[in-house]
Amino acid sequence: MGKLVVKVLEGKEKREKQYEVMREELDPYTTVLELLLKIREEQDPSLVLRYSCRMALCGSCGMIINGRPRLACLTKMKDLDEPIRIEPLKNVGTIRGLVPDLSSFFSKYRKVRPFLVAKDEEEQESPKSPYRQTDEEVKRYLQFNYCIQCGLCYSACPVVSSNPNFLGPAAINVAYRYTADSRDSDKLRVLLLDTPNGVWSCRVAGSCSVVCPKGVDPSLSIQLAKSLILRRKI
Ligand code: FES
Repeated sequence: MGKLVVKVLEGKEKREKQYEVMREELDPYTTVLELLLKIREEQDPSLVLRYSCRMALCGSCGMIINGRPRLACLTKMKDLDEPIRIEPLKNVGTIRGLVPDLSSFFSKYRKVRPFLVAKDEEEQESPKSPYRQTDEEVKRYLQFNYCIQCGLCYSACPVVSSNPNFLGPAAINVAYRYTADSRDSDKLRVLLLDTPNGVWSCRVAGSCSVVCPKGVDPSLSIQLAKSLILRRKI
């Protein structure tokens, strides 16, 4: 059975640490998160990582695993080549160990006004009746609503790598999600998208959609946002 080699590149400096774990102590369905917790418990209490739900819901365990942004709690050993190489997310800072600093990611996310803005402000504050939507209206944005803000798409985006001012896939996706919602009437959000660092920087590389663990397809929402902006200008 032998030993499994795990290389971890920690912190901003990417200090390399190597661990060995006996294969018989793992099974093919062991996740990378479980593997890292085992290493921390049995070999290196200084190993720093972030996680919470362990079920691909909270989005906090994003890291680069064998060169690709993934959720550690969703990535199984059986799907990985060896040795396993783990490092913090790219295109963002690193706080410590494997913990990314997602402040730039979240500040862009907040910037695009990720909330509903109704025409009637009074009604929005104290609604007198439920907001009703048809199935068709819900379908327009539902898929894009599944984002868990893990930052994997942002980390995979080649445009963010070369232009840190680009809003990035998650922010544009959520902006489109609210703009496509029949209950929304915000005018400002589209103006934020219709800028050189907004939708027009996207080169449709598609890596955001490849790494998204929830099947959101931000590459699609960015192209839909471009089309929506152009239609509004006609
Ligand atoms: S621990 Fe919550 S998404 Fe992985």
